[in-house]
Formats: sequence, structure tokens, C-alpha cells
Amino acid sequence: MLVSAKEMLEKARDGHYAVGQFNINNLEWTKSILLTSEELKSPVILGVSEGAGKYMTGFKTVAAMVRAMVEELGITVPVALHLDHGSYEGCLKCIEAGFSSIMFDGSHYPIAENVEKTRELVAICKEKGLSLEAEVGSIGGEEDGVVGAGECADPDECKAIADLGVDMLAAGIGNIHGKYPANWAGLSFETLAAVKEKVGGMPLVLHGGTGIPEEMIKKAIDLGVAKINVNTECQLSFAAATRAYIEAGKDLEGKGFDPRKLLAPGAAAIQETVKEKMELFGSVGKA
Ligand code: 13P
Repeated sequence: MLVSAKEMLEKARDGHYAVGQFNINNLEWTKSILLTSEELKSPVILGVSEGAGKYMTGFKTVAAMVRAMVEELGITVPVALHLDHGSYEGCLKCIEAGFSSIMFDGSHYPIAENVEKTRELVAICKEKGLSLEAEVGSIGGEEDGVVGAGECADPDECKAIADLGVDMLAAGIGNIHGKYPANWAGLSFETLAAVKEKVGGMPLVLHGGTGIPEEMIKKAIDLGVAKINVNTECQLSFAAATRAYIEAGKDLEGKGFDPRKLLAPGAAAIQETVKEKMELFGSVGKA
């Protein structure tokens, strides 16, 4: 069964750990992440960007696949199916398709418009029992066509959005989607602390989880981060393992070209990455 992310994030906040959001792209990604979550008895959030939803032929296909996979793999840990960086229209489509959680990314609108649109979605999500993530400030870099300048969030704007009754808040604190550049200034803990001060117990979300040093992850969790998003790191692990398989000529041996064999090393590499992240975030055994 899919659940809203509300309860798992409140537990994470109170228990001083974070739940990982791992983005999915296809069946292999979804299966690898679900199996690892079950093995480690960790709650998990499956993130779906609008681009990935389109790639998988639509949000209804995604919701049907995830629900069926949770049932047929016998997954017992809490799983939330979450839209990542949704547009207003995308949010409505995912609610209809049967997602259990959505993110409305209104960070590119003027704050008054972000507040208004978020307010409308809060009402719909509350009625339907979904959890809602909102964003203030922006995450730098690019993810599936969503580009952000990376400006740090204004704590007063965070409070205005948090007061609407969202379940989690993504505040830009110098984090970036994709690989961090060598000259990256690091996370702004000053901003994070100022946001926390204004929003109290609201679970905070750290996007751009790929490549953030361990000490920074731990400090962010200490300062109220209860959800950490990881996407690029699973893609890099999958690509490296697949490259190694092909470069070793394994696809040319016997039936090594069989997609179930060809994709297996990449799927195993995703499992390894998810495991490392869950251990670092502290969510192992928390299901
Ligand atoms: P990375 O791709 O940098 O891990 O970021 C993922 C993310 O924040 C998804 O919203």
C-alpha cells in the first residue's frame, strides 16, 4: 500500500534521521529501490519528475506499476509515491493518477503567487489524504528541464508557505541538482538555521543529495532536514556498472545480451547506492 509521506517524515524529524527520496526512471530503478528499502526495513519515497513520468508513458502507468510492484514484491515498509518539482497542472494529474504525495514547485513565481497556488493545493491534498511539499528559494542546476538559479530561501517567505499547512518544505540553502562543481561554496547552514527558527517543527527537505559530503548531511539532519532527495547518484552508479559490463565484453558472451542480464549489474549498483544513502541518512530499521 502507498502512504502519504507525512507520518514517516514526522517520525524522522522526531527521531533525528532523514528519509531518502530516490527518483525512479523505469522498472529496474523502482524494483531496486523497493527491494533495498524492504531489506533494510527503511521507509522510502519514490520521486517522479514530470520528465520521468512522461518517459514512463504517463503518471497513471507509474502509479499502476508502483502499486502492483509493492504488492507483488511483498513490500511491507512505508512507501510514498511522490511527484518531484511538479507544476500546478502536473500536481492535479498526479493526484488523479493515484500518487500518495506531491511537490508543488512554485519557487519561480513571485511569492504571493507561490502562496496562492500552494494554498489551493493544500486544500485538495488535505481532502484526499496526500502529503504536499512546497519550495521557497531555488535549487541550483537543472533537473529534467527544471532550472534553478540556486538562491537561498528567505526565512519569512518560508514561514508564509509553512503556515499554509504544507507537510514538508524545500528551502534553497545553496544546494544544487546534479554533480557539485569544484568551486561549490557548500550548504548555507546559516540559512537553514534561520529557516528552522521561523518554521518550527516543519520537516525540511534537502534536494540535490548527490555528492554532499557526509558531515554536511549529518549537520543538515541535526538542523531539521527530514527528507533528502537523491537522483543523479543512482544514475551515475547504474551507468558505471553498465559500462563495466559492456567494456568487459560480457554482452557478447553466451546470452549476455539478454536485457535481464545486461541491466542486472546496473540494478545491483542502484541497490548499493540506495543502501549507502539509507545508512548515512539513518533510516535503516525505522520502518
Ligand atoms: P540530485 O540529482 O542532485 O541527487 O538531486 C535530486 C533531487 O533533488 C530531486 O529533486
